Amino acid sequence: MTRLIVISNRVSIPEPGKSEAGGLAVAITGALNEYGGLWFGWDGQVSESPASEPNTVERGNITYATLSLSQEDYDDYYLGFSNEVLWPVFHFNLGAMDFRLSYAKAYRRVNKRFAGALSTLLEGGELIWVHDYHLLPLAKELRQKGIKDPMGFYLHIPFPSYDLLRALPGYRELLDDLLHYDLIGFQTSNDLHAFRQAAIETFGAEVTGDTIECNGRKVRTGVYPVGIDVDELADEAERSCANEQALQLQKDLGERDLIIGADRLDYSKGLIQRFNAFEALLTDFEHRRQKTMFMQIASPSRSAIPEYDELRRQLEEMAGHINGTYADLDWVPVHYLNQTYPRDALIGLFRSARVGLVTPLRDGMNLVCKEFVAAQDPDDPGVLVLSELAGAAKELSGALLVNPYDVHAIASAIEQALNMSQQERRERYQQMIGILRRNSLLEWRRRFMEHLSQQKIDGQ
Ligand code: G6P
Repeated sequence: MTRLIVISNRVSIPEPGKSEAGGLAVAITGALNEYGGLWFGWDGQVSESPASEPNTVERGNITYATLSLSQEDYDDYYLGFSNEVLWPVFHFNLGAMDFRLSYAKAYRRVNKRFAGALSTLLEGGELIWVHDYHLLPLAKELRQKGIKDPMGFYLHIPFPSYDLLRALPGYRELLDDLLHYDLIGFQTSNDLHAFRQAAIETFGAEVTGDTIECNGRKVRTGVYPVGIDVDELADEAERSCANEQALQLQKDLGERDLIIGADRLDYSKGLIQRFNAFEALLTDFEHRRQKTMFMQIASPSRSAIPEYDELRRQLEEMAGHINGTYADLDWVPVHYLNQTYPRDALIGLFRSARVGLVTPLRDGMNLVCKEFVAAQDPDDPGVLVLSELAGAAKELSGALLVNPYDVHAIASAIEQALNMSQQERRERYQQMIGILRRNSLLEWRRRFMEHLSQQKIDGQ
């Protein structure tokens, strides 16, 4: 069988005896297990003199090959161009973009370096699957090394509208980079349309069905919404009911309703507005005081970037303000936990919650909301309050959809969720779980791999 080569900025090397960090790592490992192959990327380390040869580890029929970054590349490629330029622009937040020429140069340099190191590990006749915005130019760099195998790219984050994209210096080159792939996958049809529009406006590309013809190349495009493994999550949630932590939480909550949010600490997640919305709940619906607890888990992320550090400070202040204003002897309204928790613990918390609050200002997909739904008790499920600007909103119409900037509308949706009859909750849950089963994680990778393999047949 054809070997699969996966490239992503971060590589998740399984530790013996430990479960995989996230659902996506599970999906990629699943694909690699099926085909056998290689997972290549950054090892997450900064080193004074990074080796030019990748470090390799074998686990079953998968080879993990990683490189470390120099301090300069970490600052300019990872923090700089990837996360202070592409991330904000692709998340519709131009105000947070900090474009510098040194960042753009480092981005090219690291992609070139990745391509050089990877090309020495390729045997030919493989399928190459590249993930996310850190690696837009990788196909072009690999082609320049003479690699001819089919290359697919999957964008996990949103694709910006053409007008926003144009604000990004060098956007033409980045678009041209992307057009060196044979297959490009997006989370939603909106992202796909935005990409096509940009290719049409910038290069006069021609679109026929799924195919874009441009600059002498033919590229297939498609929508592949990332999903979750519903059964695995539901089993985990059921097991979690019996664990000590969950029982203690139930005891602490007593009759109170738990509203839960769990996100990476990122400005795209709408956390400021969410905290304001919870305060609005306590003022617009005073009877909720004493009766609800809002738990926000925010796992630290990219803290060397000023916006992220500032967000952390602001949220601490807001949690302090809400608790200072409304707390009573026996009630602390906001539990703000600035930590990363293991996945099983999170699933247990989701199961205990009456409301899942997932209100990103922009999100490619958002898997937390899908996990929240899958973790519910089918007989007595909690309610999902979901931002209409998350990719997942396209699928999860059984959620209460809100504008994440509209603080009072979020408060009203929470109130509606807390008042909702069991029958309505069950109906909404059934509707969403059906969709989650259909658009599963397995289906996501199966379809992408099938289309990537067809590129090979077509290309021969
Ligand atoms: C998002 C991106 C991923 C990224 C993750 C964590 O989900 O789409 O590519 O790995 O955030 O961010 P980090 O900067 O810590 O890798």
